[in-house]
Amino acid sequence: MTGLYAVIGNPIAHSRSPAIHHAFAKQTEQILSYERLLAPLDDFAGTLESFRKQGGYGANVTVPFKEQAWQLAKTRSARAELAGAVNTLAIQPDGSWYGDNTDGAGLVQDIQNAGWELRGRRVLLIGAGGAARGVLQPLLAAEVDCICIANRTVTKAQALLALFPMQPRLQACTLDSLSVPGQRPPFDIIINATSASLSGEVPVIDASCWHETSAVYDMMYGKSTAFLDWAKAQSITHCRDGLGMLVEQAAESFYLWRGVRPETQPVLALLRKEINQS
Ligand code: ATR
Repeated sequence: MTGLYAVIGNPIAHSRSPAIHHAFAKQTEQILSYERLLAPLDDFAGTLESFRKQGGYGANVTVPFKEQAWQLAKTRSARAELAGAVNTLAIQPDGSWYGDNTDGAGLVQDIQNAGWELRGRRVLLIGAGGAARGVLQPLLAAEVDCICIANRTVTKAQALLALFPMQPRLQACTLDSLSVPGQRPPFDIIINATSASLSGEVPVIDASCWHETSAVYDMMYGKSTAFLDWAKAQSITHCRDGLGMLVEQAAESFYLWRGVRPETQPVLALLRKEINQS
């Protein structure tokens, strides 16, 4: 089965998704093509429709169109419903789109690949935008003890709690409260889901928020990130960026489209090498 796939976003030139999916296709002997599509900021729907008319089978959707993709999908997975955003579209026999969200599964899988236990762990999730929302359900499903959502705008963190009524494992707090010593027991895993790293900013987090073996995960990736540079400067030894999450969410999309699970670790190693050499 051949197929035409794409990643749609704006901007899109930086996207590593074509390299990842072509590597998956080669490894699993699938014949497909996967391209980057730049959609105008005001016409995601038009770009998706012309891709469908060209014979598009499936698409990944990235910033800033994930919510629009959610709206355009005629049917959606339960995890996409909870995420309120779609990062994977698959064409249906009637020509409509099925929407899924593989980001949260990608994060959980990558954390497990790192050998970090999630079950019973206290998680601090920093940020309450789309990236944070998409990982809540998968983290809860991984049986974490609790997730404290810390956000600059606390009402957005509270709005996320409202999506999970009667869920005692979720809490919300202001980002500022993290700078105050001794507010709460330390967290085992601290996840940065803000876009603050893009501008090199790191929130002020008091040392009482972590302990000797706590781990820090930044959903951003690169040679390093401002958040991980900060964590290393605090002598936190278990640090990981979001490159593995990117590869794992792609693998989950690939599985949805092709029914085959690619091996992710060789592709992650390849990407890491490319990034370090760039
Ligand atoms: P995404 O879909 O990537 O999550 P988003 O919905 O725009 O993007 O959310 C960005 C997140 O990063 C929000 O939690 C935002 O905090 P606010 O809700 O208070 O805006 C957070 N963020 C962005 N820049 C930040 C900064 N400089 N310091 C702290 N938080 C920041």
